[in-house]
Amino acid sequence: MKITLFGATGKTGIYLIQEGLKRGFEITVFARSNSQFEHPDVQIVRGDFTNQNLLREAIRDSDAVLSALGPANIPHPNGIPITKATDAIISAMKLEGLDRLVAISTGTAVDPDDGIDMKIWLPAQLIKFTMPKVYKDIVGMAKTIRASGLNWTMVRVALLKSIPASNRLNVGLYGHVKHNLKISREDVAKFMFDQILTSEFVNKAPGISTQ
Ligand SMILES: NC(=O)c1ccc[n+]([C@@H]2O[C@H](COP(=O)([O-])OP(=O)(O)OC[C@H]3O[C@@H](n4cnc5c(N)ncnc54)[C@H](OP(=O)(O)O)[C@@H]3O)[C@@H](O)[C@H]2O)c1
Repeated sequence: MKITLFGATGKTGIYLIQEGLKRGFEITVFARSNSQFEHPDVQIVRGDFTNQNLLREAIRDSDAVLSALGPANIPHPNGIPITKATDAIISAMKLEGLDRLVAISTGTAVDPDDGIDMKIWLPAQLIKFTMPKVYKDIVGMAKTIRASGLNWTMVRVALLKSIPASNRLNVGLYGHVKHNLKISREDVAKFMFDQILTSEFVNKAPGISTQ
């Protein structure tokens, strides 16, 4: 199987690539044109998210797209770049006839069926009022994915840690399932790859955390 990864030049990307290679996937990573990203075992397509041809090239013949795109730098740039990049990925996927998208999101992008979980709600409010550009982009990306018409899954996380997988997860909507704040990036990568082979969370946005 072939998988295209976006946002895989960051910290979770390392685990996504490792997990995908372990499972025997052929991997293409889309990296920004100025990215220093290198990896001997993946194909790399470099470009801007405004370049539809390159996005299509990166996605072509893939079985699914996994995205770990998210705000990385403070201050976050104006103009909701993550939402626009996601929108461009979705357009390219449609043009290439690909409909499975698994993307990382957060509790800040509320699901309509979430209950109240103060651990998740309070940081979300903090982000909303202290980092409005980040908030707008996180919420915009989630809205764009929900409206995409694709078979999407948003994997919502709170606090990512670069520690080994626990393989013991809480999975489900905030306020309904008991969650912790932390989750290992390796657990996230495993859960995302698991979604490629199951429809359990298609068009759903479960929170995941370490038990
Ligand atoms: N860190 C946490 O505790 C936490 C909590 C909740 C949710 N999340 C979300 O989880 C995901 C993975 O986290 P992480 O720690 O692995 O993130 P990361 O290391 O910051 O990586 C973010 C990725 O998004 C890309 N990116 C950032 N800004 C961009 C822009 N303006 N245009 C295009 N690409 C851009 C980065 O590309 P470059 O390498 O080119 O910069 C990188 O590939 C992100 O979506 C993050 O928002 C993280």
